[in-house]
Amino acid sequence: MKVVILSGSVYGTAEEVARHAESLLKAAGFEAWHAARATLQDLQGFAPEAFLAVTSTTGMGELPDNLLPLFSEMRDVLPAAWRGLPGAVIGLGDSSYGDTFCGGGEQMRELFAELGINEVQPMLRLDASETVTPETDAEPWLAELIGKLRG
Ligand SMILES: Cc1cc2nc3c(=O)[nH]c(=O)nc-3n(C[C@H](O)[C@H](O)[C@H](O)COP(=O)(O)O)c2cc1C
Repeated sequence: MKVVILSGSVYGTAEEVARHAESLLKAAGFEAWHAARATLQDLQGFAPEAFLAVTSTTGMGELPDNLLPLFSEMRDVLPAAWRGLPGAVIGLGDSSYGDTFCGGGEQMRELFAELGINEVQPMLRLDASETVTPETDAEPWLAELIGKLRG
């Protein structure tokens, strides 16, 4: 199964989590691709069968700049081929921001819903106030996701 990993990061933490997810998915036998600077065309060329989004939050609940172009393209085009595919989101944030905690991840969830991507497990929220080891903290959640994608 081909799994595309979309990532949005300002300082590199979410990027690290995305890279770790890519290696775990590959080790589990998936064809995982971390589409760090991909365009919509690149993504459609890969023909994903499942989606993982890993994004931090900046500003007041906003997506990092490096994810915005792809996010907008996906939202403008809403590729029909992706309807019904499984997906899941890892949101990074800081609970000290209150209401906007993991707002970037929430925006990805909304896009997945618009795309008809089926969120197969609840968003993982990684809180910078609580942890300095987000990659290892994501491992149990990723193991669960791997189980679900295997069906
Ligand atoms: C300027 C700035 C604004 C932020 N705004 C939010 C926010 O609105 N909500 C949130 O949950 N976290 C917010 N954060 C926290 C980051 O999302 C968090 O530290 C995350 O781990 C950073 O990941 P990154 O290194 O991939 O960018 C903000 C951080 C900075 C520096």
